[in-house]
Amino acid sequence: MDPHFLKLKQVWETLGDEDPLWAVVSRPDKRGGRWDLQEFLATGVADVERFRLLLQRTAGAPDRFQHVLDFGCGVGRLSLAWSQHAERVTGVDISEPMVTQARRIAEGRSGMTYVVNPRPDLSVFADASFDLCFSHICLQHMPWDLARGYLREFARVCAPGGWIAFQLPSAPAPGSGAASLRQRLVDGLPFGLDRWYRRLRHGSSTVFEVFYTQPEVVLDTLRAAGAEPLLQEPDDSAGHGTSGFLYAFRKPARA
Ligand SMILES: C[S@@+](CC[C@H](N)C(=O)[O-])C[C@H]1O[C@@H](n2cnc3c(N)ncnc32)[C@H](O)[C@@H]1O
Repeated sequence: MDPHFLKLKQVWETLGDEDPLWAVVSRPDKRGGRWDLQEFLATGVADVERFRLLLQRTAGAPDRFQHVLDFGCGVGRLSLAWSQHAERVTGVDISEPMVTQARRIAEGRSGMTYVVNPRPDLSVFADASFDLCFSHICLQHMPWDLARGYLREFARVCAPGGWIAFQLPSAPAPGSGAASLRQRLVDGLPFGLDRWYRRLRHGSSTVFEVFYTQPEVVLDTLRAAGAEPLLQEPDDSAGHGTSGFLYAFRKPARA
């Protein structure tokens, strides 16, 4: 397995074991299992509502979808919210502990499936399986090469006439250069001192990374994969002061 992919998987498995709700919505006051589940799930309803309004601003988006893919579903915060607006939802995640939590939280709910996918592609799904391919605060945590591969896969598994919607940040918060320099210096510390430092500073030796991608690159990738750009709305979900976008695309219906 590619070492970068393996590292991504290890980070999210550790975070899923240590503090899954905080790893998904990382509010400092919620660290250490302090999220109330209902309050946490309400943040998902609000996030999905934003995407629904975005899609409704594009011609022809339905009120209700047949089958939604929630890529990087974590504990299913957004899958559950989408289940109110879809016949079926499939959540997919790289992290087994995240998916275990997601299954527990959704127990007894119909039309929900969760899949662990420790692969850099979506070959687990057939072409044209979904009428909405969706992802929020997931693609930002992987290098662009990997994210680009998944976006191409979204276009493949999206049915003709279906929709693709996701978020990606484009620039860090102004003045965050010192933090990223510190991160690079810590990465280079010998004898496990990097883990020791991170435990001291962040409460865990495992931290996730955030990557930034310019919108032109995102649009070109989806266009080349056969999806039409529809809308892009400014967004700072990657952190206060960051720049980024919620994107919406459509795969043309078959002629
Ligand atoms: C910050 S959490 C967001 C979870 C969910 N999207 C939400 O907003 O509630 C990021 C999630 O992306 C997942 N993830 C990271 N890389 C992934 C990959 N290559 N394939 C699938 N899931 C991935 C992580 O395991 C984690 O559950």
